[in-house]
Amino acid sequence: MSRRAVILDVDTGHDDAVAIMMAGRDPAIELVGITVTAGNQTLPKTLRNTLNVCTALSIDTPVYAGMHGPVLAELETAPLIHGESGLDGPVFASVPRRAELGYAPVFIAETVMSRPARTVTLVATGPLSNIAMALRLEPALASRVGELVWMGGSAGRGNVTPSAEFNAYTDPEAASIIFSSGIPVVMIGLDVTTSVTLTGERLSALSRIPGPASEIFAASMERYRAACLRVIGESPAMHDPCCVAYVSAPGIFALARARVDVELQGRHTRGRTVVDFAAAGGRGHNAAVAVKVDAERFWAMLEAGLRRY
Ligand code: RIB
Ligand code: CA
Repeated sequence: MSRRAVILDVDTGHDDAVAIMMAGRDPAIELVGITVTAGNQTLPKTLRNTLNVCTALSIDTPVYAGMHGPVLAELETAPLIHGESGLDGPVFASVPRRAELGYAPVFIAETVMSRPARTVTLVATGPLSNIAMALRLEPALASRVGELVWMGGSAGRGNVTPSAEFNAYTDPEAASIIFSSGIPVVMIGLDVTTSVTLTGERLSALSRIPGPASEIFAASMERYRAACLRVIGESPAMHDPCCVAYVSAPGIFALARARVDVELQGRHTRGRTVVDFAAAGGRGHNAAVAVKVDAERFWAMLEAGLRRY
């Protein structure tokens, strides 16, 4: 089976950490690099969290720091959910390795342009700040990126405001740049990620898996689940791991073509991804939007990912 070359762009928080674990040893994925942006927490914290997870699990993929904040907006982090560190819960014993010299948007642009067209998949599990800046550096990315798989947006309700999901809300200008660029986007939003929520029973079962990955998973998910129950009254959805599951096994998702526009002006709706499945008004579709996921196959993939360490 040929592996898909992937750059994973994260704002490591709790579910990003699980996405890194799943991607790190997936036989279907060549993890070419990990790029980090601010989002769940400030960049120094999301970078440290990313390096801690990679070091603890011997994931030797190069890590690059990127944007300290959105393209235009002020950064609004999510400490209520992810804690002051951005990854409250696990304690990492060793000193993490260092990030590479250089910048995430440059690494993204150089990597995509140095490989054959349409052979690199970008997987973004945070705000699209790094990828929008890479596109501004090198507009030809729009015709060279194989696919951009983004955890973000929603065809329905938001999770930061009634309209907006966190990754879109944090940097709506970046999302708007992406959706109007021509890059082939697969949007994996709240419409499907909220159908894979981590119940107490499932957390207990996954925590019993032997090995270092499940130890980090257990320590982080216990804290993440407690925060989600306290703040939003729900078990945590496995938002970011859905993107890795899609890259590894796209058949477990159902997609629908749509026109996606990002609201930038609305006082109450800024950051909303306006999803038009009918592509009314004759405007072309610009994304494939995930509308369903086979939850049991997703959970089996997450378990398999933890067992590989
Ligand atoms: O809305 C969920 C998304 O926002 C996830 O990527 C989570 O990590 C946060 O970044
Ligand atoms: Ca994230």
